[in-house]
Amino acid sequence: MAQTDERLGAPGGDLGGAAASGIGTLYGIGAGPGDPELLTLKGYRLLRACPVIAYPKKRMGSRSYALDIVEAYVNPEEKTMLGLVFPMTRDPDVLRREWDHTAQLLLEHLLAGRDVAFVTEGDPLLYSTFIHMARVLHEHAPEVQTVAIPGVSSVNGGAARLGLPLADGDEVVAIVPATGDMERMKAAIEGHDCVVFLKVAKVLDRMIHLLETMDLLGQARVISRATSGEEEIWEDVRALRGAKLNYLTLMVVRRR
Ligand SMILES: C[S@@+](CC[C@H](N)C(=O)[O-])C[C@H]1O[C@@H](n2cnc3c(N)ncnc32)[C@H](O)[C@@H]1O
Repeated sequence: MAQTDERLGAPGGDLGGAAASGIGTLYGIGAGPGDPELLTLKGYRLLRACPVIAYPKKRMGSRSYALDIVEAYVNPEEKTMLGLVFPMTRDPDVLRREWDHTAQLLLEHLLAGRDVAFVTEGDPLLYSTFIHMARVLHEHAPEVQTVAIPGVSSVNGGAARLGLPLADGDEVVAIVPATGDMERMKAAIEGHDCVVFLKVAKVLDRMIHLLETMDLLGQARVISRATSGEEEIWEDVRALRGAKLNYLTLMVVRRR
């Protein structure tokens, strides 16, 4: 089934694309938030079955959080391990060149009939590089299938570890990427019973200040690397003023 920008991932997700068409399938496998036991059985089965394991990393030689989660299930000697560096720049020319290059690395395997498991932290369809990767791949080779295998997101993993319901009864919950636009952050809090702020580390001080002005400091919790062996939790966000936290940090603000 051909994929469109709006629809990443065919129903099912069984291996078989390569056998039927001679072209491999790209599986975006949600590795979950950190605890290897939170990988789904389907994700596990596909990791074992795919001959190529692709994983995102910040730069050459750096570790990959997503790969760390699943590494106990993958024997690198039996697989082709494909570390993909995703550009952090905003320069559109550099971005285009780097994404095209990464697509070519994947297509070498896919067009040779090899299925590729692309592991992503959390869920592959929630603010994940897999979303854009699948789009770029589709531009290069529309015949290649991309299939998303859901994972436990950091939102779910974080809420579970914090012991906070995301939504109960008729409550409304929002997932918001935190930015410097504090009016927007304020509106998100005012418009929902519970807000999960992702990518919060870079605007932590401003978020704490906002919560203070809204008299909600006591309603916020912060968690880094939820469910992993390196997890950290802050019940009192005032302790985080001036702190530099890991990128893998989220904040839950629950008003009720
Ligand atoms: C690009 S988004 C990826 C979200 C991911 N696809 C998911 O389903 O959770 C990255 C942001 O997700 C949050 N995040 C991802 N993994 C996390 C974890 N284990 N613990 C806390 N926050 C996490 C952080 O806010 C981070 O800045």
